[in-house]
Amino acid sequence: MRDRAQRAIAECRTIATMSEEPGRITRRFLTPPMHDVHAHLRARMEALGMTVRLDAVGNLRGVWKPANAGTKRLILGSHIDTVPGAGAFDGVLGVTLALEWVELAQQMDLPLAIEVIAFCDEEGVRYGVPFLGSRAVAGSFEPALLSMTDAEGITVEDAIRAFGLDPGQIGEAVVDPGAIGFVEIHIEQGPVLEAGSCSVAAVTDIVGQTRLNLVFAGHANHAGTTPMRLRHDALAAAAEWITAVEAVAQSADGLVATVGKISIEPNVGNVIPGVARVSLEVRNAKDAARKSTVNELIAKATAIAGRRGIALEHKDQLEHPAVPMDARLTDYLADAIQAAGLPVKRMMSGAGHDAMVMAEKIPVAMLFLRSPGGVSHHASESVLEEDVEASLRVGREFLVRLGNEVR
Ligand code: HGY
Ligand code: MN
Ligand code: MN
Repeated sequence: MRDRAQRAIAECRTIATMSEEPGRITRRFLTPPMHDVHAHLRARMEALGMTVRLDAVGNLRGVWKPANAGTKRLILGSHIDTVPGAGAFDGVLGVTLALEWVELAQQMDLPLAIEVIAFCDEEGVRYGVPFLGSRAVAGSFEPALLSMTDAEGITVEDAIRAFGLDPGQIGEAVVDPGAIGFVEIHIEQGPVLEAGSCSVAAVTDIVGQTRLNLVFAGHANHAGTTPMRLRHDALAAAAEWITAVEAVAQSADGLVATVGKISIEPNVGNVIPGVARVSLEVRNAKDAARKSTVNELIAKATAIAGRRGIALEHKDQLEHPAVPMDARLTDYLADAIQAAGLPVKRMMSGAGHDAMVMAEKIPVAMLFLRSPGGVSHHASESVLEEDVEASLRVGREFLVRLGNEVR
């Protein structure tokens, strides 16, 4: 198995070279490097005897269907888009390992079809709204998404056409609702498994998240002649609010809140900032706590803006509840972890994943691999060969259990 593990890692490192930017890994929704990734994965899928298609939103999908498969189908996969300056394994490892699981299944004479999906957009970097790929597969791709524009003013619809696809066919992307389930293999992206000296874990649930954008609109003015008492400084207001966001999040266990993006106008040193645009995302395992935190932070922004004579606008980008994993598939994963001779760890996911969207349509489960240093969404993201090998041993045991169920 070690050679398969090394191959899965090497594939991730090869795909990491397919980037929008030289010297770092950045691959957004339907940008040119995606053509290279598709060509690479298509070759790998066809070598495995899989039939391959690119669906209308840009998910690459390979199906292996043995003669004795019957109607049952297991879906595997993860995303191949990245954040800017990403590591080589977030998402992509879930696709390369899925293909290794297919090869293991082929050697087991499993009466099961397996579809591997390389999702086109989980991060939501290009259009600010995540899960464009899995929304189409889960049948929840709202038509309004097609008119969203990116920083260059290109709509989702135009990006799909420019990639050589037909947005009118997105409805064809929906997954077979009779599928047994979707299993996503993914790096943990946090410190828990390393702290517990665990290779892998079965995920119990994925926290809910809210993403929104806020605009603080004050008055640009001369930085030298405007007395402090007469200012309506949009950046100073946003800065006061950002420290309040951190304080609120620090006050409750399991709650995280992040202002990850900020832009100001006119963004020159001798002009008081007139406009500050900021992002906010709040995550928590408990939906009520997350929603009340969002309301509290909006109220704080409103109060700060009011006191400073600044206008405030805010717009939701994502509102997603916490998602429990399917108990039956997760128990198979836990049994498989034990059968592979590993300590059985179950844990929550603080990161969002395509599995949380796929859960709208079919049962889902996730297998986590340890993240050395707890690092992700960063070039130093890594995996250990021993953990990748462990995930393959778990995969074989999982497929045995699923095969026994469908026989
Ligand atoms: O942001 C997330 O939770 C995921 O890594 N896209
Ligand atoms: Mn990510
Ligand atoms: Mn990911």
